[in-house]
Amino acid sequence: MGIVTSRPYDRRAAVSQFSRLRTAKGQADPFPIYAELAARGGVSPAPWGGFLVTGFDICDQVLRSREWLEPDASWRERQGAGTRWNAPSSREMSNTLPGLNSPHHTRVRRAAGGFDRTTIQDIGQTLDKVVGRLLDALVEQLRHDEADFAALVSEELPVAAIGHWLGLPAADWPRLRTLTHEQVFTQELLPSATQLARSDAATAELRAYLVDHVRSRRSRPGDDPVSRWIQAWDAIEPDRAEADEQVYLLVLFVVLAALETTSTLLSSMALRLVEHPERWDLIASCPDLVPGFVEETLRFDPPTHVISRVASQDTILEGVEIRRDQMVHLMVAAAHRDPAKHSDPDRFDPLRKPAHLAFSGGSHYCIGAPLARLEAQILLRHLTQRLPRLTLVRPPTWAPRVAFRRPLNLDVTFA
Ligand code: HEM
Repeated sequence: MGIVTSRPYDRRAAVSQFSRLRTAKGQADPFPIYAELAARGGVSPAPWGGFLVTGFDICDQVLRSREWLEPDASWRERQGAGTRWNAPSSREMSNTLPGLNSPHHTRVRRAAGGFDRTTIQDIGQTLDKVVGRLLDALVEQLRHDEADFAALVSEELPVAAIGHWLGLPAADWPRLRTLTHEQVFTQELLPSATQLARSDAATAELRAYLVDHVRSRRSRPGDDPVSRWIQAWDAIEPDRAEADEQVYLLVLFVVLAALETTSTLLSSMALRLVEHPERWDLIASCPDLVPGFVEETLRFDPPTHVISRVASQDTILEGVEIRRDQMVHLMVAAAHRDPAKHSDPDRFDPLRKPAHLAFSGGSHYCIGAPLARLEAQILLRHLTQRLPRLTLVRPPTWAPRVAFRRPLNLDVTFA
């Protein structure tokens, strides 16, 4: 096969598309912009370097292939000292699971373990009670006025789930949640210098807090995941300080990975439910459709719109030449609307049972997917079984981002 170079493209149009995407208006409905990107080809140059990938099958292929790597510490170093990739928050991320490549990644991931059925059942019992309390507060507010579902429910449930599971004191949950919203900028597509500085500060505060938590579990082990991770690391790492550092990095990433993403899933799911009365009635009368409704929410508008990888060697992707170390941005939310994968992709269809990449794919597949699904399914069941139908008061406002979706409010009232 001959080498094909990148197709010519209109750089100014591409810059304008991303400027629009990064606004609250663009985030309120990014999908027409994704359609414009996809029209430029399944793999097209990004205006700032690297490539954008919008086709479902190519995104899936890149995630599963060993030829494509996470941007790890040595890749970040090669980008140069003054770049965003060497900000303290970015260097910290390069030591966590999604900054590692095999064989180190395999070792760290094995020590992390996963959610088995018994753990999920135990957490489910706690979450039933938490959801009950959150919906009490929502109903109380709705008796007087409209209520912000995002603030009262979506922001509260994930931090309670992770907080209970990791044994973090409830008094600290609000601060942890704020810090994760600040920290995410370093993982965004194009963070500004100010955003990176906020992310660096949040990372430093999270390190101080979580290192302390690991230390307290080291001195007083219990029946909790942090104590189990300490045991797992002690079995493979003779240096105690290094073992504790590895446990801290795991706790850090679990907290970062679990809070904002799951809150966004819960709000998106509730938005899909309240924007069309017939959807509420359908789920209320057929609770068996709950898992499918959650999966279709993850396809229709996933919490993470972009996942990035770098080329381990010179290669060709869909006829486009890509050099070693160049980055590809997998636009998974755009890929979820690929008509070659899903028929009528812009239609939300809870009966679809869709394939999706919301939890990534291959060796970095999300460890927390069973927990995120559990939270969403429990919430959807309680909502539709217990409450009369809710309706949307006004469209939500979205944070001006690209990769990590975040609705800032979801105002609802009784229908
Ligand atoms: C709806 C909620 C969630 C979404 C959309 C989500 C999405 C993702 C994605 C896209 C990745 C892969 C990143 C990559 O390929 O580079 C990932 C990895 C990960 N997620 Fe999640 N996540 C969610 C919830 C959670 C929760 C609740 C936890 C923890 C309990 C968690 C823990 C992790 C961990 C530890 C990884 C790293 C896996 C690795 O690199 O080997 N996530 N998640």
